[in-house]
Amino acid sequence: MTTTLTQTAAAISMRDIHRTYGRGSAEVRAVDGVDIDFPRGSWTAVMGPSGSGKSTLLHIAAGLEHADSGRVFLGDSDITSSSDRQLTALRRSRIGFVFQSFNLVGSLTAEQNVSLPLRLAGRRPSRADVKAALSSVGLADRGRHRPRELSGGQQQRVAIARALVTGPEVLFADEPTGALDTTSAHSVLDLLRATVDAGQTIVMVTHDPAAAARADSTVFLRDGRVVDHLAGASAGALAARLVQLEA
Ligand SMILES: Nc1ncnc2c1ncn2[C@@H]1O[C@H](COP(=O)(O)OP(=O)(O)O)[C@@H](O)[C@H]1O
Ligand SMILES: [Mg+2]
Repeated sequence: MTTTLTQTAAAISMRDIHRTYGRGSAEVRAVDGVDIDFPRGSWTAVMGPSGSGKSTLLHIAAGLEHADSGRVFLGDSDITSSSDRQLTALRRSRIGFVFQSFNLVGSLTAEQNVSLPLRLAGRRPSRADVKAALSSVGLADRGRHRPRELSGGQQQRVAIARALVTGPEVLFADEPTGALDTTSAHSVLDLLRATVDAGQTIVMVTHDPAAAARADSTVFLRDGRVVDHLAGASAGALAARLVQLEA
């Protein structure tokens, strides 16, 4: 079931989202009443101290996890009321997700990894589409390589190609540069920037103020709540805000 809103400028809207883990004295309010809009065609970074609810919020926004209460809209679709089957279909076609640890299938080549989401969605990937996806991340000549034959930065770029190959409305990334050296991180951030400049919407969790500074704006979480939102801030300003929140 989908509920239609009149006019949504946001790619993703979250309304009064709550998610609690555990019970009694072990209860943790991972997300504690979040209202947020992620604008279309824009790159939003999500920062906050460890345990502030960043990953939980991202997983709920991406339909990887259910909220206890609240609503999530992907464009005009209310995904909160989607069944697990509908969510699976949605994740395969309308959402891309990139993980810190790349999560490529080790036994498959780069080309096969990239074509996987298309196969899962019941589409027959053309070699040209898969090659174009790899070429767009600068890896046209690495299609036959398996993940272990690629550097970390190259593996993450394959993962980004895989996440984008279905043409998702939103690309989510949880610490996409967290496992990379500075140079590789740079190439991944350059790629994300180019993708947004071409119209993609990105929501990215990061610890790294230099990574967040490449985004258009940064949302700060603490204790499961949005406590700040800075647009166009420098890495220094973002680092200073994070240190304040960690105190
Ligand atoms: N599956 C889970 N079971 C129990 N507690 C969890 C689970 N996932 C996250 N938490 C808790 O929820 C809080 C927020 O976690 P998380 O969203 O991973 O934070 P962040 O990504 O900002 O580090 C933390 O206190 C964490 O321990
Ligand atoms: Mg996390």
